[in-house]
Amino acid sequence: MNHTTTLLLLIFLLPLSLVHTITDPNDLKILTQFKNNLQNPQLLQWPKLNNDPCGPPSWKFIFCDGNRVTQIQTKNLNLIGTLPPNLNQLTQLTNLGFQNNKLNGPLPSLKGLSNLKYAFFDNNEFDSIPFDFFQGLSSLETLALDNNYLNVTTNGWNFPSSLQDSPQLTTLSCMSCNLAGNLPDFLGKMNSLSFLKLSGNSFTGEIPLSLNGSGLQVLWLNNQKGELLSGSIDVVVTMVSLTSLWLHGNRFSGSIPENIGDLVSLKDLNLNGNELVGLIPDSLGDMELDKLDLNNNQFMGPIPNFKALNVSYSNNDFCVNKTGVPCSFEVMALLGFLGGLNYPSNLVDSWSGNDPCEGPWLGIKCNGDGKVSMINLPHFNLSGTLSPSVANLGSLVEIRLGGNNLNGVVPSNWTGLMNLKLLDLSDNNISPPLPVFSNGLKPMVDGNSLLNGGTEGPSSGKTSPSGRTGTGGDTQGHSNSSSSTDSVGAKKSTRKGLVLIVAPIAGVAAAAFLLIPLYAYCFRRTKDGFQAPSSLVIHPRDPSDSDSTIKIAIANNTNGSVSTLTGSGTGSRNSSAVGDSHVIEAGNLVISVQVLRNVTKNFAPENELGRGGFGVVYKGELDDGTKIAVKRMEAGVISTKALDEFQAEIAVLSKVRHRHLVALLGYSIEGNERILVYEYMPQGALSRHLFHWKSFELEPLSWKRRLNIALDVARGMEYLHTLGHQSFIHRDLKSSNILLADDFRAKVSDFGLVKLAPDGEKKSVVTRLAGTFGYLAPEYAVTGKITTKADVFSFGVVLMELLTGLMALDDNRPEESQYLASWFWHIKSDKKKLMAAIDPALDIKEETFESVCIIAELAGHCTAREPNQRPEMGHAVNVLGPLVEKWKPFDDDTEEYSGIDYSLPLNQMVKGWQEAEGKDTSYMDLEDSKSSIPARPAGFADSFTSADGR
Ligand SMILES: *[C@@H]1O[C@H](CO)[C@@H](O)[C@H](O)[C@H]1NC(C)=O
Ligand SMILES: *[C@@H]1O[C@H](CO)[C@@H](O)[C@H](O)[C@H]1NC(C)=O
Ligand SMILES: *[C@@H]1O[C@H](CO)[C@@H](O)[C@H](O)[C@H]1NC(C)=O
Ligand SMILES: *[C@@H]1O[C@H](CO)[C@@H](O)[C@H](O)[C@H]1NC(C)=O
Ligand SMILES: *[C@@H]1O[C@H](CO)[C@@H](O)[C@H](O)[C@H]1NC(C)=O
Repeated sequence: MNHTTTLLLLIFLLPLSLVHTITDPNDLKILTQFKNNLQNPQLLQWPKLNNDPCGPPSWKFIFCDGNRVTQIQTKNLNLIGTLPPNLNQLTQLTNLGFQNNKLNGPLPSLKGLSNLKYAFFDNNEFDSIPFDFFQGLSSLETLALDNNYLNVTTNGWNFPSSLQDSPQLTTLSCMSCNLAGNLPDFLGKMNSLSFLKLSGNSFTGEIPLSLNGSGLQVLWLNNQKGELLSGSIDVVVTMVSLTSLWLHGNRFSGSIPENIGDLVSLKDLNLNGNELVGLIPDSLGDMELDKLDLNNNQFMGPIPNFKALNVSYSNNDFCVNKTGVPCSFEVMALLGFLGGLNYPSNLVDSWSGNDPCEGPWLGIKCNGDGKVSMINLPHFNLSGTLSPSVANLGSLVEIRLGGNNLNGVVPSNWTGLMNLKLLDLSDNNISPPLPVFSNGLKPMVDGNSLLNGGTEGPSSGKTSPSGRTGTGGDTQGHSNSSSSTDSVGAKKSTRKGLVLIVAPIAGVAAAAFLLIPLYAYCFRRTKDGFQAPSSLVIHPRDPSDSDSTIKIAIANNTNGSVSTLTGSGTGSRNSSAVGDSHVIEAGNLVISVQVLRNVTKNFAPENELGRGGFGVVYKGELDDGTKIAVKRMEAGVISTKALDEFQAEIAVLSKVRHRHLVALLGYSIEGNERILVYEYMPQGALSRHLFHWKSFELEPLSWKRRLNIALDVARGMEYLHTLGHQSFIHRDLKSSNILLADDFRAKVSDFGLVKLAPDGEKKSVVTRLAGTFGYLAPEYAVTGKITTKADVFSFGVVLMELLTGLMALDDNRPEESQYLASWFWHIKSDKKKLMAAIDPALDIKEETFESVCIIAELAGHCTAREPNQRPEMGHAVNVLGPLVEKWKPFDDDTEEYSGIDYSLPLNQMVKGWQEAEGKDTSYMDLEDSKSSIPARPAGFADSFTSADGR
């Protein structure tokens, strides 16, 4: 047949085409080539004799529009072979579905397929992709190339910029595609892109900043190979449409952005296996994700109570192993410091656990009391800024950070570090202003070009931030500290701001002198002792303070701790250093008297729980049934003049939170009313159960209950004694101050209250102190000198009471046994006498007698005549712990912290508190920014209590 015949034949057949489509011959040719290139073409089931793929009937898997092929849909057929290189001559293609076959060889170029919307080549064995593959795909919406071997022999490939020819591209899926190099910037400019799945490639570098604000819903960049993706993940929080974000298996670093919670649509977040560090942002904890994977990073700090449904976070550096458990404040302060330095990895590796003094924390040194005393990181190549959180480490004596690359200012609240003797910041890049330390400390800042700027004369030469000459090698010595402190003293009077506060200082100084004889007077009257403040220090105006407030601090002589009273104005002030207005904010502790009247039915007698030295305690019930104890002070116990101190004290006491300390929840001061609100302890005082159980018709306490109570009290007292970086002395520990919950677990109450008593004027106070005489340590009773060891003595007496069921002091007993402590000393070592002395309400058996002897021994130890022969409370805890352990199952399980939210309304707070029962709550919330009171000084109230008496 010649050409003419063919042509004629075609013309002849033309009318037929109105009924029978004759497929475009070039389309036919390409399909035929496709078929012929396959090793298993039979799978297509295309007819051998019918040369009209568009039909009708059309070939299987082929769709046409008129005589043009628009779709090839051969997915899941297991086809083996190559695709024709001129596939793009099927110019009317809208849809290609080649996925899940074994197609190999080069991918054909799709160049110019301007109608193509969907193209699936995924899960085949294609081995290369031509550079012009993406050109002119102006209608493309979905492209899948996953799981091929594209350009594997030429070290991978990257998206050519012609991909941008597809402005409507919504889904780009190219997982395990051999993509390499950086993620292209232009991906961020493709505004339609919603699903970007690029897992399992060999991308390196960072997430492009061009993705800032992108509308992506799915971003999968996980499990890159080789160098991996790195850098910060900050930009992801701008992609607010994200529902699924997979970044696992890379080297992303830095911390999770605080505002990750902005991703309100996110359901699935996987950060597993990166190098992310730092705290988990609160906002992440609150996200209602379906799945959250944080495993295998270096996250630190507390584990939040995640709202995510399926969450995992193992293999990180959290401070404690349980969700919702806060870290110690030291750890939080040091993590804040670390955060300012962008979490340098050598420190992150070393700073783990919940106690910087336990196990070596690189560059951290502690004192004998297990408190952080030094940050020692000179020449550590640190960069970043100094965190204000360091100011919470009141025990710091030295900070050595010379020869690093630190910038920014020295936080103004570092001036509150009253024990700080050395601050070496030489050879850094610190900016002014340098805060003025009131304790005379002068920071060492040589070699900080922004600070020295020529004004300091000879020492300002060095400007190189990495200069290593100045302080080289002195990582241990204290040699510089004394000289630097001295030099400040000399310069102090020239400091700006000092003049402004001279008048109030004079007032306070006068007050201090007055205090001393007054204390002596008090002591004679009350057998109670106080320590006079040994030094007065003045906080200059804090430059960051907006108000015209002057802060005056009084350092206590025993531990250098400091409290702050805040006065206002610049004028001279009166000697009491307290004004009529109550300038000390106590956060949300203030409760109106009216509320307390309501909850106690106007202090109805039937709600009376008891009477103590300071007044009457009432039971109150909030609307929701939560019970509280309301202590209404006797009129005059706290005079109007002493109100500021009272409030300051309360603000501090209310922060002392421990499972075995009765929580002070708030207070009221209105007119003559002075009311304290405590958590309610349903079983009342230990004394009731020990001495008066018959008259109250109670069960006597069993031995195991007594052991538990002893341990609880020991723990509470240990906590008081080691609070923060200082120690807090109860002064009035006794069985009527030990309160019991429904489960007979004990809490110590009334800590701090003795110090609130202004003087011995009030008869009730005298009575109260006389009543506690049986618990008084001899040196305290004689000299009025109070140390924690006086509390240890009282604890020993309580142990004797638990053993014998006898009151510490009882005039009705025979003379030799009136004073329990001295009588017990005589009998404790004689087994028979001891046995005879045991509370008859106890049924002591052979196996329990051993523990009785141990307690008797401990009681003797605690009541040793010489204070230094008495143990610390920690020792008592260690002795009692194993005994209680023996009595399992009682219920003393894990030591846990509780997360109580002090910002809640009272009733919710009480709830939280009660729910936390059964968990240990050993922490002090020093971070609470609502209060202006700094870390609690032990002698704080001492310094002020009597200011009122003048
Ligand atoms: C893939 O490799 C081939 C052959 O080396 C090369 O011509 C082509 O440009 C590469 N593809 C891309 C997208 O770079
Ligand atoms: C994203 O862009 C916004 C506005 O352009 C900018 O303020 C922000 O810093 C950017 N975020 C990141 C992480 O680049
Ligand atoms: C949480 O996710 C893991 C990993 O995907 C899975 O094995 C586990 O079953 C999931 N757990 C729940 C409670 O859905
Ligand atoms: C933390 O918990 C995990 C599992 O709950 C446990 O395997 C691990 O030993 C715990 N680590 C510590 C320090 O207690
Ligand atoms: C110091 O400032 C930080 C941040 O403002 C604050 O969290 C911290 O409680 C402050 N510490 C002291 C002791 O003032």
